[in-house]
Parts: sequence; C-alpha cells; structure tokens
Amino acid sequence: MLAIIGGSGLAQLPILEVTHRQVVRTPYGDPSCALTYGKLAGQNVVFIARHGYGHSLAPHEINYRANLWALHNQGAKGVIAIGTVGGIRPDMAPGRLVVPHDIIDYTWGRKHTYFEGPERPVVHTEFTSPYDQALRRRLLEAIKATGISGVHDGVYACTQGPRLETAAEILKLERCGADIVGMTGMPEAALARELDLPYAHLCLVSNWAAGKGRQAQVEFDPAVAAKSVQDLMNTLQAFFGD
Ligand code: HPA
Repeated sequence: MLAIIGGSGLAQLPILEVTHRQVVRTPYGDPSCALTYGKLAGQNVVFIARHGYGHSLAPHEINYRANLWALHNQGAKGVIAIGTVGGIRPDMAPGRLVVPHDIIDYTWGRKHTYFEGPERPVVHTEFTSPYDQALRRRLLEAIKATGISGVHDGVYACTQGPRLETAAEILKLERCGADIVGMTGMPEAALARELDLPYAHLCLVSNWAAGKGRQAQVEFDPAVAAKSVQDLMNTLQAFFGD
C-alpha cells in the first residue's frame, strides 16, 4: 500500500474510492487529520490531507513527525507527496507538474527528526539524494503517459512561510540553484528517510515566485488550476493503473 499526502487545495482526492477513515494517535502527537483509506485504479491507498481537512494548519504548524509516523505505522510502503509550489526557473510556469530531484531546506524551528531525546541516540541519516529514485521514475513515466512533455526535474527550495518570499529572496534561491519554491516539503522528506519510507514529491506550480511573473500573482488562475489538477489526477491514475 502506498500513501498519498495531499497539499493545499487537495484536502480530498476525487479519484479515490473511499472505504473508511481512521483516527491514528502517535507518540509524536496527532496527525493533521484522520487517515482516509480507499482504492485508486484498483490499488490500496491511504491518504492524509497535510493541512487538515479544513486547511486549518499553516506549513509551520503541521506535525510532520506524526503524519509520517502514522502512515508508516499503518503499513504504507512509500509516499507520494503532493504540493503546490512557486515557479522560479523560466520554464516552471503555473500549471506545470514537477517531480523534484533535490532539496534545499530553509525551514527553521520545526520538529525535524525522530532521533532526539534520551532514548534515541543521534543518527546522521544519509540524504545525498533525498527522494526515492524508483518512485520518481514511476511518476515521471506516469506524467509522460498522460501526454505531458517537457523536463520535470527540479531543485525544490523549502521556505518557512507562511508569508511568501521577497523578490530578492527568490533571486537568492535562484542563485543557489533552486527551480521551484514551496513551504511543506521539509522536514517531511527527511522524516520519511529516517523511517526508511520511500518518498517522492509531485509538485504543481501554482504561481510564479515573487518577482518572476509579469505581475505579483499568487492566486492560482482558475482555468490553469482546473487543467493542472486534471493533469495531476491523470498522472495518479496512470501511476497506480500500470
Ligand atoms: N512560495 C512558497 N511557497 C509556495 C509558493 C511560493 O510562491 N506557491 C505555492 N507555495
């Protein structure tokens, strides 16, 4: 069984045939919401809405440790994490799907490891390549199968939020090698790695990053949003259906 973590605007998965929901408690506190179980293209899936069902949790308020622990504890063998991002690289226009291959973490003050406290000795987790290559490859193949062409690799910068960035901050991220920017990819990916849970990120570009578009447009254009959510659903169908 694979897990799907839904991001902003994706508190539910319309293509999931829901069988039941379950509240899970963890040693790290409560996850964002109850877990939803169901079938997607005939495969068992467990789903969680990262921000809670009413989008009540800001990126820095999410209990990433509880979410990942709950999914792992319930038997998930891998995670497809969905998130919206701002586009920095010129070809990362709103509406694009990206499966990032690397991360730069700018977050602070989040509970970002399971290895702390007297009972958990320090472990330095290997994180050279933060995403699971097999899951990434399958996602890229699924994107191609839906007929979407182009380059879908990218470096994901994770900012603290909840405010958006300044234009100068985005230029700095760009100079550091970032192609897209979001607020929730970390510590999620690192915690998955600590649990040995294969994890890949499927990102949807919702806006140009600060200073990159023709205008400061943070709202997702409804027409572009509808098309890209459809692309996302087609990709997931292809991913689970093959
Ligand atoms: N910046 C950071 N996070 C985001 C953005 C952005 O422009 N868009 C969606 N998530």
